[in-house]
Amino acid sequence: MVYQLYPRSFQDSDGDGVGDLNGITQRLDYLQSLGIDAIWLNPICASPNDDNGYDISDYRAIMKEMGTMQDFDALLAGMKKRNIKLIMDLVLNHSSDEHDWFKGAKSSRDNKYYNYYHWWPAEKGTPPKRYSLFDEEANAWRYNSATKSYYLHYFSRKQPDLNWENPALRNEMYAIMKFWLDKGVSGFRLDAFPFMAKDTSWPAMPADFTNDQFVRYYGADKKVHDYLKEMNEKVLDKYTDVYTVGEGGVIPFSKVMDYVNEDNHELNTLYHDEIGNIWGRDSLDLGEYKTDRKNVTGVKQIVSKWDEKFRNKGWNTVYLTNHDQSRAVSRYGNDSPAYRIPSAKMLYTFLLTQRAVPYIYNGDEIGMTNIRFKNIEQYNDLQTRNRYYILLKESKEKAEAYLLNQQELSRDNSRTPMQWNNSANAGFTGGNPWLPVNPNYPEVNVEAAEKDKNSILNYVRQMSRLRHDRKDILVYGKYSLLDGANPDVFVYTRESGGKKLLVLLNFHGTNAVTNTGIDFSKAKLLISNYENTVADGHLRPYEAAVFEL
Ligand code: GLC
Repeated sequence: MVYQLYPRSFQDSDGDGVGDLNGITQRLDYLQSLGIDAIWLNPICASPNDDNGYDISDYRAIMKEMGTMQDFDALLAGMKKRNIKLIMDLVLNHSSDEHDWFKGAKSSRDNKYYNYYHWWPAEKGTPPKRYSLFDEEANAWRYNSATKSYYLHYFSRKQPDLNWENPALRNEMYAIMKFWLDKGVSGFRLDAFPFMAKDTSWPAMPADFTNDQFVRYYGADKKVHDYLKEMNEKVLDKYTDVYTVGEGGVIPFSKVMDYVNEDNHELNTLYHDEIGNIWGRDSLDLGEYKTDRKNVTGVKQIVSKWDEKFRNKGWNTVYLTNHDQSRAVSRYGNDSPAYRIPSAKMLYTFLLTQRAVPYIYNGDEIGMTNIRFKNIEQYNDLQTRNRYYILLKESKEKAEAYLLNQQELSRDNSRTPMQWNNSANAGFTGGNPWLPVNPNYPEVNVEAAEKDKNSILNYVRQMSRLRHDRKDILVYGKYSLLDGANPDVFVYTRESGGKKLLVLLNFHGTNAVTNTGIDFSKAKLLISNYENTVADGHLRPYEAAVFEL
C-alpha cells in the first residue's frame, strides 16, 4: 500500500503557510497507523513553484519552503524506523527555466548546456505546431532572442523540455538518481516519463489530429525503451529492492506490457488513468461528466481487462485520485452529508481489495471533499487559470462552463490543506495557508475521525489490516467478476489456496440487488460499512461488504 503525500499541503511546521518536511516528520506516527508500506512524496526539490515543484531548479537541493537536507535525512530516518519506504518523484521530462542548465542554454548556442534542451532554430522558419498543456497561448514553442531559436515546453513556459537524446543529460539524470538512492530512498515515481522520448524530426501535425494520436506526436517514441533499459543498467540494477512506477496515462493499453514485463527490464509498474477518464473526464460538458459517474459497468470492464493483462506477468496499480484530479469521494462517491461516509468507505473497500498496488491519496482517508471554488481568482493551479483565459478569448460562455467543470474536476480540489483538527486553518498552519482550507474542516478532520470508531479513517485502518492479514488472497489471489452486467453493483471474488472472499459494492445512492449465483447466507462477514448487513444480495445505498465464503 502506497500513500501519496502532497507535501505542500500536508503539515506546515514553521508558519509560512506551506507544508514542509518537518511537518511530515511530526505526523509519522499517524502515517504508520494507516498500515501503509510506502510513501510517494510529490516533488520536494528546489523550485520556483510555477507548477508546485514540477519545475525543478536544483535536483540535489530541498525547496526552501520545505526545509533543509538535514530535515530530509531526519524524515527518512523516521520512516525507516517505522518500516515505511520513500518513493521520490523524479521529474525527467523538463526542468525549471531557472535551472542553471537552462540559464546557460538560453545564453548562447555554443553553451555546453544548449543541447540539454530541444530547440528549433529561427532560420528554419516557424516551428511545427505543438500544443502545450499549461501555456497561456497553448503553444509549446517559445522564442528566445539570445539564441535566435525556439525552445520546447510541453508544460508551462517555465518548464523547458529536456533533451534525452543527449547522453550528457542522461548521465546527469542518472547521477541525480544515484544521489537519492545513496541517501536511502527506495524508489521513484517517474513523472510524465513517456514524453522524454520524442520524434525529433518534428513531423507536422495532421489537420485532423485527435488525442489518440497524442503519443505519436508528443512522446513514447521507441527510444523511451532504450532510456529505461539504460537507466536500469546504469543505476537501478546497482541497488537492491528499488521500486519504480511510471506515470503512464498516455501509454496505449496494447503497449503496457512492453514497459512492465519483467523480462524487458524497464519499469516495475505504471499507472493508467482509465478509471478517472471514464468517471470524470475533463470535458466541458458537465452533463456528460454526471452521466459517466454512473457508469459502473464501464469501471468493471476496465478493472477486469487490466486484471487479465496482468494474469501471468507484470504487476498492476490502482488509484482513485491524486494531486492531478479532484477528491475521490466527490468524484466517484457522494459527498452529501447523508452519503459522504458510507460512499467513501465503499470506495476504500474497492481500492483495498484490488489485485494491484493500491495508492491512497492524502486526505481521502478522512473523506476530504472538493472545495469547489467559484471564481477564477481563487484558483492557484496554472492549468485551470491558463485554460480559463484561453477559453475566455473564445467566448464568455465557454469560460463559464469550464469554471463549472473545474468545480468538480480541478486539481486544486485535491490540493487544499490537510484537515487535522478544528482549530484555525484545520491545524495545518499557524500562518496563512497557500491555498484556502476547505470550510468543512470543523467536521471533517483527523482528530474528530480518531475519536469516532465508525469514521472513514478507522474503516481505512481496518481495511488495511484485512489486506495485510489476508495478503495471500487480497493482494495475490485470483480475481473473478460476478453479476457482470448489473449496472448498479460491482461484485467479485478473490481467492487463493482454496479460500475465497466475496466483495459486494453498491456504487449508487439507491437500493440495489445483486444476483451472484452464490449462496452466501452462511458466510462470515469480515467487514462492512453498515450495521446489520444482510447476506442475501440486497444492498443499501453505497453499501459495501466483504464475506469469507
Ligand atoms: C505530471 C504531474 C503534474 C505536473 C506535470 C508536469 O502530470 O503529475 O502534477 O503538472 O506532470 O510535470
